[in-house]
Amino acid sequence: MSDLVVYYTRTNTTKNVASIIKDELDADVLEVIDKKNRQGPIGYLRGGLDAIRSKKTSIEYEDVNFEKYDNIYIGTPVWASKPTPAIMEFISQNNFTNKNIILFATMMSSGGEETVDIMKKLIEDKDGIVVNSFVIATKTDDITDVTLKAIRN
Ligand SMILES: Cc1cc2nc3c(=O)[nH]c(=O)nc-3n(C[C@H](O)[C@H](O)[C@H](O)COP(=O)(O)O)c2cc1C
Repeated sequence: MSDLVVYYTRTNTTKNVASIIKDELDADVLEVIDKKNRQGPIGYLRGGLDAIRSKKTSIEYEDVNFEKYDNIYIGTPVWASKPTPAIMEFISQNNFTNKNIILFATMMSSGGEETVDIMKKLIEDKDGIVVNSFVIATKTDDITDVTLKAIRN
């Protein structure tokens, strides 16, 4: 089986989850970069507003041939109970027809299920097959435990 983990991160939590999956499954990893500056308090506030308004953003990532992969993991931080603009944009730019997709979201404490539902709907609208999803609340969860449990199940 070959696996790809796609993620966006602002402060590395989602990247850490991607690394755990990479190590466990020997997966390839693809980081999605948001070209908007999301750093600092202003970046935080604008990020939240952009997520609430489903505002589009410009992204960049390495060219990848998705056909090579059996499973594609897609991970996002939760922003205002929504996926990040960068991951929304990534989903809208790509074709997931008949691909097995595993969705994951990291958050402080709440909004993960709503976030995953939004992504799931977008993927299914593109004929992707969401085979699993998981949410990590950093306030209470052990990131490694939850990730390994989810991907081994
Ligand atoms: C703009 C913004 C909005 C956020 N909204 C939520 C939220 O609705 N619920 C929550 O539990 N955490 C929220 N968070 C916290 C992040 O989801 C959480 O820290 C996440 O794990 C960060 O992932 P990252 O380090 O990969 O960027 C928000 C963070 C940002 C920057």
